[in-house]
Amino acid sequence: MGGTGMSGTGAGGVGTAGAGTEWSIERFGPVERWTIQGEPRRNSLTMALLAEGAEHLRRAAADRALRVVVLSGAGQKAFCAGADLKERARMADAEVAAFHRGLKGFLTGLEALPQPVVAALNGAALGGGLELALACDLRIAAEGVEVGLPEVGLGIIPGAGGTQRLPRLVGVARAKELILTARRLGAAEALAMGLVSAVVPPARLGEEALALAARVARNAPVSLRQAKRAVDQGLHLPLAEALELENRLYQDCLPTRDRQEALRAFAEKRAPTFTGE
Ligand code: COA
Repeated sequence: MGGTGMSGTGAGGVGTAGAGTEWSIERFGPVERWTIQGEPRRNSLTMALLAEGAEHLRRAAADRALRVVVLSGAGQKAFCAGADLKERARMADAEVAAFHRGLKGFLTGLEALPQPVVAALNGAALGGGLELALACDLRIAAEGVEVGLPEVGLGIIPGAGGTQRLPRLVGVARAKELILTARRLGAAEALAMGLVSAVVPPARLGEEALALAARVARNAPVSLRQAKRAVDQGLHLPLAEALELENRLYQDCLPTRDRQEALRAFAEKRAPTFTGE
């Protein structure tokens, strides 16, 4: 983990936090990396993966020592190829609807996680795979990845937030162009439109994602939580209400010990040590 200042815990850092079969969980101090373990099916989304993911969300939300989550996929071909189209071919309409509810719920829960989440796009992020990345707070990609929302070519629409989160991120015109053409775009174009914030060589993606997570994790935990909430919730409100929300979230930071610690650290010309209190 060169450059991150973090090292894994447990056997190779893997499986240290109640990992099941669908996700591997590695802990690096205050950061966890959650990796979808479905390389043969290009990390596509199954019912089992969503159920296990929901458990990890519950666990993470209650973990005060966890500051940032990095989300990635196994291998180099795909971050996540969207819904598992083979599983889906065997499903009745009602089961597809249930899966869709499950995916929407999982992505809403992921977005609402108190900790910031970094998506590390190690390969293609298509359909529900891109929607998964859109529910994260930050996205970085390996060179050569493809992203897109192919749903209208499959007789459906992006239904797990794609039609809503993509325009909020890249603007209405760009989002409609991508959704209505169903075309795939490369990493450079994704970077140019702000869909990802950095593109790095594939061999460096893991390290860069952890370094970004570490850069976030060194800040005051209450501030991170409140700042994430201010952006996410304020975006949907009229400006006056959004500013009021920001004010409330700011006020919550004032009585924290970490704010006093930051002031002391500044005076003493040292890095602050935050506890989240
Ligand atoms: N669901 C289930 N299986 C999938 C899948 C998906 N969404 N995407 C890929 N796979 C499977 C393939 O069927 C293949 O399985 P097989 O070995 O049993 O034939 C295996 O993963 C490898 O696929 P392949 O296309 O050869 O891999 P690749 O590395 O060349 O390309 C992708 C990877 C992700 C770019 C490509 O598989 C793809 O475009 N998948 C479809 C994405 C999509 O349209 N998703 C639906 C969104 S709603």
